[in-house]
Amino acid sequence: MSTASAKSVAIIGVGGIGTYILRAFLNLPNRPKIIVFTRSDSKGKAVPDDLASVPVVSVDYTDVAALTTLFKDHAVDVVISTVAGLPTAQKAQYSLADAAKAAGSVKLFAPSEWGLPTEGAKERGESNVFAVKDEFADYLKSIGLPYARFYTGLFAGYLPWLLALDVTSSVHIIGKGDKPLSLTSETDIGGFVAHVLTNYPLSSPELVNQSFRIQGQSITLSEAAQIYGKSIVYIAEGEQVPAGSEVESGYKTAMQTEVEEGRGSGGWDRRTSTYSPELAGSANKLWQGHVWQTLESIIGKN
Ligand SMILES: *[C@@H]1O[C@H](CO)[C@@H](O)[C@H](O)[C@H]1NC(C)=O
Repeated sequence: MSTASAKSVAIIGVGGIGTYILRAFLNLPNRPKIIVFTRSDSKGKAVPDDLASVPVVSVDYTDVAALTTLFKDHAVDVVISTVAGLPTAQKAQYSLADAAKAAGSVKLFAPSEWGLPTEGAKERGESNVFAVKDEFADYLKSIGLPYARFYTGLFAGYLPWLLALDVTSSVHIIGKGDKPLSLTSETDIGGFVAHVLTNYPLSSPELVNQSFRIQGQSITLSEAAQIYGKSIVYIAEGEQVPAGSEVESGYKTAMQTEVEEGRGSGGWDRRTSTYSPELAGSANKLWQGHVWQTLESIIGKN
């Protein structure tokens, strides 16, 4: 068994969390080789200026042959997919996985999870983005490609948006707002990913085929309102969370409904529909000594 940690990492997409993961790798003293893939169509995002030293390849995510050649040429051993969470975008990952398998160099594939735990969503017949992600993990298993799934909870940067603080001056809550959710800062998510992939051998039991449940803090939406110092508007049944557009309103409402039903925590297990507080943040221990950011520390109130 090889004892090497990541030597050559491909990050797919830098439109969101990919940027934070990239920045975290760049901050490491002994960082692996990094290459960034962006979509070759008009939706491909540019790498922020401070990260411009990293080689970026613009590639068609459905071109398995081109992707295979890239993985091989760069001897990529870890693929980190951050393709957008929408079901249509998730489809691009199948060709990325096929290419990673064909290249022969890839030892670990991190599918685009970056949210609530999805394990069990497919088996339970859910028809949502959680099931789409869960189904893709099954595909990785079916082609024999080792994986690592990162469950991060809600990105802290999205919390004001989720609570409608982007469009109103009060926190808007569906239900009672008393269920715990896992909140993690984007910086800590990037830091955790870079840390574990460079501190554990890629073939170690800590990494291979693991699901990581990380969490900066467990918090309820009411507690968040208090920390922000904002009044709460409780949304009437059947009404939506305010947003700039109907589509966004739908996303916020769906997400808050998940939270209100108890599924916003990394302690939730979709397979058994049970909540275990100790499951939330259970992977934090892999980053020993790290002080995780909280909403209080982020807004400077600790
Ligand atoms: C990890 O999962 C892959 C399938 O995704 C499988 O082929 C491989 O044997 C597993 N490795 C270990 C060590 O369980």
